Amino acid sequence: MNCARRELLAAAGAIAAGVGAPAAARKAAASPSGFLWGTATAAHQIEGNNVSSDFWVLEHIPSTYFKESSGDACDSWNRWREDLALVKAGGLNAYRFSVEWARIEPERGEISFAALDHYRRICVAARGMGIEPVVTLHHFTSPRWIAARGGWENPETAEDFARYAGLVVKALGGTVNWICTMNEPNGQVTSKVMALGKPWEKEPEVLAQAAKAVGSDRWGAYFLGDSFKVRDVCLSAHVLARTAIKSAAPHMKVGLTLALQENFPAPGGEALDKRIRDEARLPFYEAARKDDFIGVQTYNRGLIGPNGYLRTTDAVIRDAWDRDASPRALRAVVDEVHRATDRPIFVTEHGINTPDDALRVRHLRASLSDLATAIDAGLPVIGYLHWSLLDNFEWSHGYVPKFGLVAVDRKTFRRTPKPSLAAYRALIADLRARHRWA
Ligand code: BGC
Repeated sequence: MNCARRELLAAAGAIAAGVGAPAAARKAAASPSGFLWGTATAAHQIEGNNVSSDFWVLEHIPSTYFKESSGDACDSWNRWREDLALVKAGGLNAYRFSVEWARIEPERGEISFAALDHYRRICVAARGMGIEPVVTLHHFTSPRWIAARGGWENPETAEDFARYAGLVVKALGGTVNWICTMNEPNGQVTSKVMALGKPWEKEPEVLAQAAKAVGSDRWGAYFLGDSFKVRDVCLSAHVLARTAIKSAAPHMKVGLTLALQENFPAPGGEALDKRIRDEARLPFYEAARKDDFIGVQTYNRGLIGPNGYLRTTDAVIRDAWDRDASPRALRAVVDEVHRATDRPIFVTEHGINTPDDALRVRHLRASLSDLATAIDAGLPVIGYLHWSLLDNFEWSHGYVPKFGLVAVDRKTFRRTPKPSLAAYRALIADLRARHRWA
C-alpha cells in the first residue's frame, strides 16, 4: 500500500553487505517447492460479509471514511475453488491468502471449527492442484471484540493473537509450509512519521462512533490510534506468534510482510527519510532476523521532502493514483532488505493499480526482468506473488481501484481473466527457460 497508505490512514482513518553465499541460502529457503510463483489476496478484500470484523464496523458507522462497504466482496468464501482454478490457469505454483480471525474467533474464546475446516480444505485442495498455500494470519482486519478491547494498542492483543496463531497452525497442520504472521505492521508508523505526527482530524469522531457501535468505551484498530504503541504491540505479537507456531508446527516457515517503497530524499528531506528508516523499518528488520524469510511488499517510489512526499519527476510509470510506480522500485527494495537482514526474501506483494491492463503487463515484465537480474547476481529471493489475483475491495477506496489479473463482476461474481494473467504465465515460462532458479 505504501504511499497510498497515507491516504488509507487518513482515509482508513487510512539496508550493507553485498551478495554473499546466496546459492546455498536460496536452495535451503526455497525447499520444498522451488521458486514460488503466485498471486496474493486477503480475506476481507475477497471473501465478503466479514460481519464480525472491526473493518465491517468502521464501514458502517455514520462518519465512515470508506467509499463503500466491502459487502459481498468477490464472494470468495463460496467461490474459492474458482479462485484456485484461476491460479492454476495462470501456471502458478503458489497462492497467498489470509485466514480471517473474526470468522475463526468471532467472540473471544468462541472458536468456529467450521471456519478452521473451511481454510484447511482450501489448503488441501491447493496442494492437490500443485499450488503451495502461503497463509497470512492477520491482514489488517481483527475481530470486533479485539478492537473493543483497545485493539493493537492493548498489549494483551499480542497474547490473544499468539493463541489464535497456534490454534490456526494446529488446524492446518501438514497442509501448509509458509506462514506470514502479520501483513505490513510497519505501515501505520510509516504514515504517522510521514504525517509529521499530525493527527487525522476525523479520528476522534470515528473512534467514538465505532466504540459506541460495539457498546465499548474504547476502540482500537490496526490503522488508528497511537501508531508507536501499535507498532510495539505488533512486534511483540509477531514474536509470540512465531514461538506458538514453531511449537505447534515446527516444519512451518514463518515470516512477516512489510510495506516497503523505494524511498529517496529530496534536498532537505534527509531527516524525514532517516526517521522512516529508524522508526518504521529497522525495528522490523531486527525482528525478522530470527524469521525463516522476510516478506517484501512494494508498489512505489517515494521522494521524501522535508514535510512529506513530493511528486517525482522521473517516473517511468504512474499508477491510477498518480503515484510513481517505476518498476525499478522492486529491485531497489529487495537490495535494501538483503543488506539489512540477510534473510531469504519472499516478494509477498507487488502490483499496480491501473484500469489499463496493457500497462500492468509492461510493469510486470520490467519488474520481473529486474528481479531476475537481482537473483542472478545472487540475492536470495525465494518467490514472487503478484497483487492481486482478483479486482477486489481496496479498503477505503472501495471497488474502484483495479489491481487484479482477473476482473470480477460486482453482481454475478463472474471471474474474467484479463490478458495480464496469460502474460504473467508466459513471462514465467520465459524466465524458466533462461534461469535455473526460476
Ligand atoms: C496491502 C493490500 C492492498 C494493496 C494495494 C498492500 O499494502 O497489503 O491489502 O490491497 O497494498 O493497495
